[in-house]
Amino acid sequence: KKDCFILGIETSCDETAVAIVKNGREIISNVVASQIESHKRFGGVVPEIASRHHVEQITLVLEEAFEKAQLDWDDIDAIAVTEGPGLVGALLIGVSTAKALAFAKQKPLIGVHHIAGHIYANRLLAEFQFPLLALIVSGGHTELVLMKEHGRYERIGQTRDDAAGEAFDKVARMLNLPYPGGPHIDRLAAVGEETIDFPRAWLEKGSYDFSFSGLKSAVINKIHNAKQRQETLNKEDIAASFQASVIEVLTEKTYQAAEEFKVKQVIVAGGVAANKGLRMELEKRFSNTSIPLLTPPLELCTDNAAMIAAAGTISYQQGKRSDLALNANPALPL
Ligand code: KG4
Ligand code: ZN
Repeated sequence: KKDCFILGIETSCDETAVAIVKNGREIISNVVASQIESHKRFGGVVPEIASRHHVEQITLVLEEAFEKAQLDWDDIDAIAVTEGPGLVGALLIGVSTAKALAFAKQKPLIGVHHIAGHIYANRLLAEFQFPLLALIVSGGHTELVLMKEHGRYERIGQTRDDAAGEAFDKVARMLNLPYPGGPHIDRLAAVGEETIDFPRAWLEKGSYDFSFSGLKSAVINKIHNAKQRQETLNKEDIAASFQASVIEVLTEKTYQAAEEFKVKQVIVAGGVAANKGLRMELEKRFSNTSIPLLTPPLELCTDNAAMIAAAGTISYQQGKRSDLALNANPALPL
């Protein structure tokens, strides 16, 4: 059987990314142009700026992906692109590019869900074993997803308010840390001590849903009160205490779900999966079980196009195709 090469395109937020993946498992090239520097001074992603950067970068990133792969268009079997969810103006650049290329090069077009991409980043490390449980923790999502076969997703839990990454970013902002705050909290937490007992939102018994807004408010109140009393804030301890609360709930719910659904594999995906504390705690929790845990390397946790190509490969092999009416959908369901 001939090898399958899928070109992936991702522009849902603030990374312009193009990658080529072989047989859904092997990265041939993976180019990411980050815009973080342009958004930093605004303390978050500015949608209009993101769109403009994507327009400027996309053809350059595309050329670089081909150059690094030492392949040309004849080698490409299909084009996979993130169709949602994300910022609509940002998504549109990727979708329009993919459609133009699919038309011009006469290649099949495949729309990919961004979260399916994050999940399939793990298949670049090891083959999936079903049933599989995925913990998705990013700036926009916090979900537990059960998969019994390729390309099918059952959401068993989700956040009722803020996403985990959003909580990290908001707390970081309160501590005057640069955007995106997650990595900075992670760094401070490593040297801080868990001196403050912030709440853990377990919700109803047996629920796999999450909630981080109460925790976020508790941290913000703590910071406000300390400022009012002119106490010196120990940022490291606040970071460590906040992070410990997030990690405990994420780890415990993932473990409970893995047991209940008797999964054969647990995977972690999304930007917050880069968190060292979370990775350590999950590894510890699953180390004395028979359930293997996959955590992608940092560059595959955050947004990239290799994960979109990997997810697109499964769709391609399952015969799923999009047509040229494909549109960006900022609220696409998984
Ligand atoms: O998956 P991602 O790159 O973009 C989305 O699809 O949202 O995730 C970005 C999020 C941001 O909230 C960022 O602060 C967070 O992931 N993040 C982290 C770490 N690295 C990135 N959060 C905690 N610890 C980290 N080391
Ligand atoms: Zn993402």
